[in-house]
Amino acid sequence: MGEARGIGVSNELDCIMNSYKKILLNGFEGECMEAISVDKLKAFLKWPDCARDWKLLRRVSSHGTYTYQVKADLGLGESEYFIKVFRKQERFEVAWKKMKSIRGLKKPWRYPLQMLGYLFDPIPVKVGFEKGKALLEQGIPTALPVAYLYQKGLISAWGFIITEKIPNIIAENLAEYLKQRKNELGSGEYIREKRALILELAKLFGKLMTLDFFLPDLRVSNILVERLPEGKFKLWVIDVVEAIPHKPREDKMLYHLIANPYYAQLFTGTDKIRFLKWYLGFSGRAESWSIICCRVNPLLQAWWKKWHKKYGQQNPKPH
Ligand SMILES: Nc1ncnc2c1ncn2[C@@H]1O[C@H](COP(=O)(O)OP(=O)(O)O)[C@@H](O)[C@H]1O
Ligand SMILES: [Mg+2]
Repeated sequence: MGEARGIGVSNELDCIMNSYKKILLNGFEGECMEAISVDKLKAFLKWPDCARDWKLLRRVSSHGTYTYQVKADLGLGESEYFIKVFRKQERFEVAWKKMKSIRGLKKPWRYPLQMLGYLFDPIPVKVGFEKGKALLEQGIPTALPVAYLYQKGLISAWGFIITEKIPNIIAENLAEYLKQRKNELGSGEYIREKRALILELAKLFGKLMTLDFFLPDLRVSNILVERLPEGKFKLWVIDVVEAIPHKPREDKMLYHLIANPYYAQLFTGTDKIRFLKWYLGFSGRAESWSIICCRVNPLLQAWWKKWHKKYGQQNPKPH
């Protein structure tokens, strides 16, 4: 374990991709790598007690998700994994609270409708697992899917997905990486490094646009950076549980990536235009970059307006 397996169409990868098995455990169903011991998995997953010893990295209440980092021997020797747990009930609790708040009262249909949707939403771990495998098959780096298990149910169901830890990652995500490097490097060096990353990002987006599924949640916060020798980078896509089975929506994808207001200050207008030009160059449409800029720009403007009105922020300045 531990070797970067996200890219390259080696025999080893083929072998890994083909060797998964179905599992059924106390009312949960799912899949895991052939080499995983189902008994060890079962012992490891004594929910909720097991989570007491796990390191909680992130909790997103509105999604009912908890991301943990753990070390465990699941049949492959002691290895590091990430486990994302989904508790359906928590989504209802959050929507219920919002429904009773002033904002909820202003839109009385919004949260009941959301809750109705949640009732029939399956826990998305199977999607995350399958799309993780699909990305690897396409040579797009992502965390190796190790196992998923979920319960079917209207409200109380829960489930989780385990992925192998991506090696050599030094920041929580691409945006955090840039922030970190901005403090560490002189401005010239930082700009050069950022440009190299934007180039990789443009290549990655070119590849993602060729898929037959769409990752609506793909933001800089779901891209991890691995530093390679000679100033090169490898970008990893994570958190693919929200994948939707239709062709990627280019505008939405670009817009999500470059318009995230939390990270706006990391990307200047020039960065965005450069990204678009490179991205279109990789997808053989270099000549249409100005048209795309015109299409994406109004979306960005509208977003800024909404955001700044809501939070009273100043227009972000370039770095
Ligand atoms: N397999 C993995 N290898 C390395 N880091 C990971 C892995 N999975 C998750 N992480 C880290 O955990 C963070 C949260 O995981 P993520 O699946 O994006 O959950 P969330 O929905 O809360 O954003 C990521 O930003 C990343 O830093
Ligand atoms: Mg994420």
